Amino acid sequence: MNPVLLTNLSDGIYTITINRPDKLNALNQEVLRSLNQELDTIYADNNIKSVIITGSGPKAFVAGADISEFNQMDETQSRQMAKAGQDLFFRIERSPKPIVACVNGFALGGGCELAMSCHFRIASPNAQFGQPEVNLGIIPGYGGTQRLVQLIGKGRALELIMSGNLIDANTALQYGLVNHIVAPEELINKATTILKTIQAKAPIAIAHCIICANAVFDETQHGYEQEVNSFGACFNTSDRVEGTQAFLEKRKPIFTGK
Ligand code: COA
Repeated sequence: MNPVLLTNLSDGIYTITINRPDKLNALNQEVLRSLNQELDTIYADNNIKSVIITGSGPKAFVAGADISEFNQMDETQSRQMAKAGQDLFFRIERSPKPIVACVNGFALGGGCELAMSCHFRIASPNAQFGQPEVNLGIIPGYGGTQRLVQLIGKGRALELIMSGNLIDANTALQYGLVNHIVAPEELINKATTILKTIQAKAPIAIAHCIICANAVFDETQHGYEQEVNSFGACFNTSDRVEGTQAFLEKRKPIFTGK
């Protein structure tokens, strides 16, 4: 049987391809379990500097949670499913290494939620985004009601979530849901170019950029206080010494992640 995830590490960039193209890469339990294992690897492996998540085939990034698994579930199981999905997507959002979604087609339901848990998104012109759960009599359960509001604002988010309507790549760009639109064959190249730029910076500073941006949306944290703490933590690194010294010596810094 084909693996549900394909992975590749090149130049520090770990690419994860969700590989169920005949089911439009729908997130079944096996995919979610495998993604969790990949997050263990991403957090632990020092050779991985940044991550790309994409979907297999020309049609879909991910067309949602696997609807065929819904029928046997009762309320308790549905709560467990939503909680487990949210926890997985928090691990993506809170990863100290940048994670980019390359959206190559449908990003619906859990697929839109997966893309939104990544640090930013790049789309191909055939990408379509939406939270069509209301068509099934349910609502988004993997953080979609929260992150869509964060990313595009309450009015636009509620229109999408309540109507189940899809938006195309251009509208997603206009809403700020995606950063760039590039041809499908250029998606990985575009993400790679941006990630290589980020990888040349001090890794501890990059991790703190993510921590501070996440703090904006975390009720338990004070974002400005976090920024002070993160600024201090960066100041206390060898990479800060190297970065400032390299500037004064008019040379490129060599960061070591320390
Ligand atoms: N869960 C399980 N299977 C899915 C799926 C999902 N979320 N999305 C697509 N598939 C499967 C289809 O059942 C079909 O399988 P089959 O060939 O064995 O019948 C296959 O993927 C291809 O999908 P199909 O519907 O034939 O493609 P299409 O081009 O006609 O339509 C979509 C594409 C995305 C519009 C349509 O598949 C769709 O609406 N999917 C569900 C989206 C959704 O509601 N997501 C939120 C879930 S909570």
